[in-house]
Parts: sequence; structure tokens; C-alpha cells
Amino acid sequence: MTLEILADAEHLAARAADFIAGVINEKPQTTVLVATGNTPMRTYAELERRVKAGELDCSSATAVQLDEYLGLPEGDPRSLYGWMERAFVRPLGIQRVIRFDSALEPHSACARFDREVAGVDGIDLAILGLGPNGHLGFNEPPSGPDAPTRALTLTPESLSSNAAYWGELEVPTRALTAGMSTILSSRRVLLLVLGAHKREVLARALLGPLTPDLPASYLRDTNLTVLADQAAARGLT
Ligand code: GLP
Repeated sequence: MTLEILADAEHLAARAADFIAGVINEKPQTTVLVATGNTPMRTYAELERRVKAGELDCSSATAVQLDEYLGLPEGDPRSLYGWMERAFVRPLGIQRVIRFDSALEPHSACARFDREVAGVDGIDLAILGLGPNGHLGFNEPPSGPDAPTRALTLTPESLSSNAAYWGELEVPTRALTAGMSTILSSRRVLLLVLGAHKREVLARALLGPLTPDLPASYLRDTNLTVLADQAAARGLT
């Protein structure tokens, strides 16, 4: 595991963009698992800047959805795929996407997702945020390392942290997530962590026991790079 501590969100975004661009330059057909949430948004904006400036070409990469709410009508503003499309897929000029098909019933959507991920030989790079309760995607505690791609009910912690994204709109209570097994078998994992409110959960993820009660702890068994700002990393070293 590598931990890099950056001064603030802006420095973290620049470093994360360097990392992601490095992977894509090395292998243009990279398959990237893409978190939404607030943490990676500056990073994606920096990648967009580089694409627009002609410094980076993402057109051969495949973007893979990490998680999605269940039960939203087509075109609902809360769709996590919609967020991923606006923040990552379109601005970076990505042509190929693997996503959860919300027209299918959840079990079939998950089975198809797994088949498509297997069909591209798995994930090269997982870009992840850290849930306030240690979740990855929507692998809520308890989730062990073999937890499959599946539908689940969100915990009260996730409902309340996700409420910040949607203003007056309610947070859906059920979701689909790429499984722990998919995430942990990624060839590289980039975990982005910002803010003092993530300090305790980050310390537990990096220093505490590997436990289903903190799914992010299992990242230590992967080829992991953690980029954290000083606020999140204080007391870690
Ligand atoms: C959310 C999402 C995750 C995200 C995490 C952190 O609930 N399901 O994919 O990475 O929690 O979100 P944020 O970056 O907004 O703190």
C-alpha cells in the first residue's frame, strides 16, 4: 500500500489526475471502475481539462459503474449513472461503458454487469471514495471480501450522507453495487479521501483489523494507493 498526503483538495485532484492519466497513457484500453460522490469531482474536472487541452486521450478506455440506486424512473436526476455520465464519461470522451441496466430486474442486472466486466477481463483501475461508515460503492457493513454484485438496502448512515447530494429530493433506500469481489480483484485501486470527517474511518481502514464491519479495510489486500488530504490523514503517520 502507498499512502500520499496532499495539502488540500486541489493538490489531491492534481495528483489523482496524474495517477489516472498515467494508467490510461500506459494502457489506453484501460477499464476503470468509477465512483461518484463528492470526493473525486475535482479530479474528474482536472482530467477533463487535460482532455480538452489535448494532453490526455481517454477515448479507448471503458468506464464501469460502481453503484446505482434502485427504483428510480428513467431520467431521474438522482441516477448515479447520470452523475457518472455528466462528470466522467462525456467530459472525458469515453465511448464504452458498462453499467447497471435499470430496465432489468435487479438479479439479472447484476448478472449481466458481472458478465460484461468478466468480458473485458476485469477492472484495471478502481477509483473509489470512502463511505463514512467504511462502505465501498454500496457494499455496506457487514460486507466481506467475497460479497457479490447485488441489490441491498442502504444503512441509515448512507441515507444521511447521500442526502447531501440531492437537496430536497429523498434518497432511494435500495441500491445495486459492484461486489467487494469485483472491487478487490481490480489490478490497481486508487482511494481518494478528503476532509476531517473521514479521519476516523480512514484510520480504521488503514490501521484496524480487516473486518466485514469496515469493508474498506480489505483494500489493504489490493494494489492500493491512498491519496488523502491533511485533514483526513492527520494522526496517521
Ligand atoms: C457514497 C457512494 C460511494 C462514494 C462514497 C463517498 O455513498 N456510494 O460510491 O464513494 O459514498 O462519498 P463522498 O465522496 O461524497 O464522501
